[in-house]
Amino acid sequence: MKGFILLALAVFAALQTVESACSPCRTMKWVNCDGAPCTCQITLDDSNRPAIDCEKLVSKCFLMKAEMYRRKMGQDVRINIGGKPHEDAIMDNDGIYNPDCENDGKFKAKQCNNTDECWCVNSAGVRRTDKGDKNMNCSKLLNGGSQKLDLNKIVVYYVDEERPTITMQYLTGGIIAVIVVVVLVVVLGLLALVSAQFKVKMPKSPA
Ligand SMILES: *[C@@H]1O[C@H](CO)[C@@H](O)[C@H](O)[C@H]1NC(C)=O
Ligand SMILES: *[C@@H]1O[C@H](CO)[C@@H](O)[C@H](O)[C@H]1NC(C)=O
Repeated sequence: MKGFILLALAVFAALQTVESACSPCRTMKWVNCDGAPCTCQITLDDSNRPAIDCEKLVSKCFLMKAEMYRRKMGQDVRINIGGKPHEDAIMDNDGIYNPDCENDGKFKAKQCNNTDECWCVNSAGVRRTDKGDKNMNCSKLLNGGSQKLDLNKIVVYYVDEERPTITMQYLTGGIIAVIVVVVLVVVLGLLALVSAQFKVKMPKSPA
């Protein structure tokens, strides 16, 4: 009987340890899980460590901010940061920056990358206006990225509800020349098509 009680106590103690053990975060490896009850925190900068739910995906704004911090601290980050990691990879138009996040992990509508140059982003943190000074106003955060897209060799992977207001000021002469050539080819093709149809119809008309 004594042995049984001891055994029961041992099993109980073992179960307690298992319960209080803090398992690592399943969705994110840059997260520290600690304490009882177990809390998981992501480090965004020296004093900002919000708790996150490891049953859900970490918000992109938190991920980008954590990555910028790790880069600053010389810790490991994704390979080829800012560049295109793989031929088929998905990439935002501007690459990574140090974002300002809301407490719930959403992107703030205006982003400045810790500089005086700012721009407005959509909900995926992708720039959708020209860059301006730090007084520029970004009214609302547009929802991007709910559409289903074929993800093969896609460069910008969101479609906003409204057109972005990025102007073509950075288009180089080369790209403009290519556009002109493409337009010319299309026009010439249409002309050829029309004249071919005209020729086919010609013999019929005298009858
Ligand atoms: C943001 O700033 C970092 C340096 O702090 C730079 O490497 C990065 O290219 C910048 N990103 C953008 C989109 O301006
Ligand atoms: C942005 O909004 C503030 C307050 O509404 C206004 O004072 C400021 O002039 C605006 N800035 C620009 C660049 O439109």
